Amino acid sequence: MKNNYDTIARYYDFLSRTIFRRSIINAQVCLLSYIKPNTSVLIVGGGTGWILEKFQPAGLEITYVEISESMLELSKKRIQHNNVEFIHQSIEDFTPSHQYDIILTPFLFDNFSATNAAAIFDKLHASLKTGGNWLFADFIDDPKQLWQQIMLKTMYLFFKVFARIEAGKLNDMDDLFSRYQYQKIFEKFHYGRFIYSAVYRKEV
Ligand SMILES: C[S@@+](CC[C@H](N)C(=O)[O-])C[C@H]1O[C@@H](n2cnc3c(N)ncnc32)[C@H](O)[C@@H]1O
Repeated sequence: MKNNYDTIARYYDFLSRTIFRRSIINAQVCLLSYIKPNTSVLIVGGGTGWILEKFQPAGLEITYVEISESMLELSKKRIQHNNVEFIHQSIEDFTPSHQYDIILTPFLFDNFSATNAAAIFDKLHASLKTGGNWLFADFIDDPKQLWQQIMLKTMYLFFKVFARIEAGKLNDMDDLFSRYQYQKIFEKFHYGRFIYSAVYRKEV
C-alpha cells in the first residue's frame, strides 16, 4: 500500500517535533480561529490526532479521514471536545455524504503525485460549501534555498523507505487554489519559510 504511515505512526510526532520543533503545530493551530462554532469540519490526514485536542468545545461535527489504521487508533485515544466520526479510508475512496463548512488538509498534499493531488483537490473542492474555508498547511520550497532542497530530498527519501509515499516532490498547491478561484484570506510562513499555512475561501 502506498502512503502507509503505520510503521512510523508511534514515532511520527516525536520525529516531527525533534526536527521542526513547534512549527508543524503552529502551522495548524494558527488556522483554527477560522472555524466557527456549530459547523461541519472534514479533516484529511490528521495523523496521530493531536490537532483534535486543540479544538475548543464548539459543537463541531468533525469527520476524520485517515488512511493509516495506526494513526487512526492513536487519534481515537485523544480527548474529544467535539463530535468526531473516525473513518479508516483513503481520501480517494471516501465518499462524502454532504458538503462541509470547513476542510482541513494538514501536510496531506505533499504525499501525492501531481496527477493524484489534482484529482483529490477536485474531490475535496466538490465537498466544500461555497463560502466555506479550506485550511491548508504544508511544506513549501524555494529552489534557491539549498538547505530546503537538502531537507526535502532527505524527507522524501525517508518517507519513501518507511511509508512508501508516492510523491517525490512538492506540488504547486497555490496554483491549484487559484485555478479553482479560491480567495486567500490568510497566510503565514514558519520555519524559515519552509512551512506554509493558508486559509482559502471557496468563492464559486
Ligand atoms: C505527513 S503526515 C501528517 C500528519 C499530521 N497532519 C501532522 O501534521 O502531524 C500525513 C498523514 O496523511 C495520511 N494520509 C496519507 N495519504 C492519505 C490518503 N490518501 N488518504 C487519507 N490520509 C492519508 C497519513 O496516514 C498521515 O497520517
